[in-house]
Amino acid sequence: MIENTEIAGLRRDYTLTELNESTVQENPFKQFSIWMEEAVKSNMLDASAMVLATAGKDNIPTARVVLLKAFDDEGFVFFTNYESRKGKSLIENPNASILFFWKEFERQIRVTGAVKKVSKEESKEYFNSRPFESRIAAWASEQSRIIPGRKLLEDKFDELKEKYKDGNVPLPPFWGGFKLVADSFEFWQGRENRLHDRICYLRENNKWNIARLAP
Ligand SMILES: Cc1cc2nc3c(=O)[nH]c(=O)nc-3n(C[C@H](O)[C@H](O)[C@H](O)COP(=O)(O)O)c2cc1C
Repeated sequence: MIENTEIAGLRRDYTLTELNESTVQENPFKQFSIWMEEAVKSNMLDASAMVLATAGKDNIPTARVVLLKAFDDEGFVFFTNYESRKGKSLIENPNASILFFWKEFERQIRVTGAVKKVSKEESKEYFNSRPFESRIAAWASEQSRIIPGRKLLEDKFDELKEKYKDGNVPLPPFWGGFKLVADSFEFWQGRENRLHDRICYLRENNKWNIARLAP
């Protein structure tokens, strides 16, 4: 069994590069785009994976990984089951945070904001771009519900594959995108001796104010 001392001993220094107020982009979406491009071009796995934190009306925060599917100069889009735990939470309380951690670059980005549903057309367009099996799985899984076992899921999957064998899988009414409309960003670059760089952007009157935070 792993000992806590072994876990506690896991640490490293961060020395790859730096981030400063005078060289960051004025627009955080541009800064995001530069870092995302570097992550994607490096061929790391799951560069678009982000942790999404939500809290519904019970005020209990929960987090999980989802994949970023699009961003523009307003916010970040991901797709999910609207009736899942996160879906219900976000409908009860649209405030949320997303977080990217790219250990290969010693970087994290945190974004906060409020979500809104994307249009049916946008959800449909993305849904139709997914592989057949993923579209079937969206129908087969009542995401976040308790199920009696794996067999039920697989039987449902096979049944639906047969039902939609012509390949025309409609968009499930309970499935679609959310867009997190950003109101703050924080870009974190690991530095030596734990003196990390943290540059944040806060939106005020349609302008982004930049500040440095203590690590
Ligand atoms: C790498 C990775 C990518 C994932 N992408 C998504 C996604 O894009 N959408 C989604 O609904 N769940 C995705 N999941 C599954 C979620 O983490 C989560 O288990 C599921 O959405 C149920 O979460 P909930 O019960 O909090 O609603 C992904 C998981 C991992 C590890």
